Amino acid sequence: MFEHFERPQELFEYRLGAALTMEHDSLDMLRELEMSARSDEIKKLFSHHAHETEEQIANLERVFEVMGIEQSDSPSPTTKGLAKEGEAMIRKTDERIVDNVVLAAALGTEHYEISAYQTLIAAADAMGAPVVSELLNKNLEQEKHTSEELAAAARTVAAATA
Ligand SMILES: [Fe+2]
Ligand SMILES: [Fe+2]
Repeated sequence: MFEHFERPQELFEYRLGAALTMEHDSLDMLRELEMSARSDEIKKLFSHHAHETEEQIANLERVFEVMGIEQSDSPSPTTKGLAKEGEAMIRKTDERIVDNVVLAAALGTEHYEISAYQTLIAAADAMGAPVVSELLNKNLEQEKHTSEELAAAARTVAAATA
């Protein structure tokens, strides 16, 4: 897409494409984690956020539309790495304590997503694109809320299995 970034707008477009890839990776990961989780409550948390992630993908597609740019899929090696690490840890972990691992994997991804949206929103605000900022903020708020729920669940699981 871009070989050398010269303008903030180019960075924004590249990162927007990476965010779309990130959300698709995140959706795959949430489905995997839902299958691996032991507790029904944690499974429910993952399936709820998978539903939100589908909305987030639609919001990102809308951002491309609003900005009048072609949808792209820049690479997102970090989310792929996080998913790979999570899978490896699940394979190595006893079923009895696997919820500890699935929650850690999901929490890592949420924090990465939060950072991606904070960077995109800073750029959208600077470009004076309020509709774009609003769409990205919807996604950011869902990620923040989910990360809080995951952190709370991680504390409960850690305490219960200590
Ligand atoms: Fe997301
Ligand atoms: Fe998320």
